[in-house]
Amino acid sequence: MLKYTTSELNKKKISEKEVFCFNPGTENIDLETVESFGEEWLKFDEFSAEEIKNAGDQYFDIVTEKELNKASYVLDLGCGSGRWTKYMADKAKFIEAVDPSEAVFSAARAYNDLSNVRFTQAGVDTIPFEDNSFDFVISLGVLHHIPDTGKALKSLLRKLKSGGHALIYLYYALDNRGFLYKLIFNLSTVLRRVVSTLPHSFKQFVCDLLAIFIYLPFIGIAKLAKIILPGNLYMKIPLVYYRDKSWNIIRNDALDRFGTPLEQRFSKKQITEMMEAAGMGQLQFSENEPYWHVLAKKK
Ligand SMILES: C[S@@+](CC[C@H](N)C(=O)[O-])C[C@H]1O[C@@H](n2cnc3c(N)ncnc32)[C@H](O)[C@@H]1O
Repeated sequence: MLKYTTSELNKKKISEKEVFCFNPGTENIDLETVESFGEEWLKFDEFSAEEIKNAGDQYFDIVTEKELNKASYVLDLGCGSGRWTKYMADKAKFIEAVDPSEAVFSAARAYNDLSNVRFTQAGVDTIPFEDNSFDFVISLGVLHHIPDTGKALKSLLRKLKSGGHALIYLYYALDNRGFLYKLIFNLSTVLRRVVSTLPHSFKQFVCDLLAIFIYLPFIGIAKLAKIILPGNLYMKIPLVYYRDKSWNIIRNDALDRFGTPLEQRFSKKQITEMMEAAGMGQLQFSENEPYWHVLAKKK
């Protein structure tokens, strides 16, 4: 494990693991969103091995052993429940999993048995490790929940060694979708603005209802479309991504989508610009969902 560069505020012992806690920062962080995730991950603290493997294979479809291997020091920023840390644990040398929310404690509890992992409570601006110290950095579904995503990318990628690789997933701006899809989506955004302000337990209940009455019907339509429509036309149905996902993942993503106060979306072009400004090159966007996840190399 790497040496911390600043001294911790305190530490908590979770089962056999000590979680060191650092100031999460105050500038480029939305504390309401972080708190909301802390509560969310207390509910969804364990995904089955199969769920992690199936979803992980989709995010890591563009990663090979050349970028992530048994010699890699890895940083998982915004680790949440720790599912991607778990996914990478047998592929990497050591993983520093960092998150500012209470989620790190449930992650440390759930993955207490992983000897090559350490969980740390900190934010993107207070990552307590030297710059240029990681071989591989991931941040999946995190930086679009931060006020200035470009600035956060720069802070994060400073921790990556020159020649190291980063896998980043940011919500897409629907840049590969048609008018109708965008319209349906924009309506759902109005709903999110309302739902995300609800008190937590009520929010969870409402998001479950949305999962039942919005996600499940669209998934049903997508499955039917797969049978009756020619070629890949069924892929144009909203929420088709969830056609083979478990109820646990659908509920969790409905809560993510509708319950989070701050969410931003980026086109491929915007992501390319932000990554290049953070010193990255050789960008490789996956053509597969979830959009957009991109692998890049630090110059
Ligand atoms: C949607 S969750 C994704 C968790 C995990 N990467 C996953 O995909 O399962 C977003 C995570 O970003 C974290 N987060 C929010 N603001 C952050 C910040 N300023 N610095 C680092 N992480 C942050 C939240 O605490 C939350 O756990």
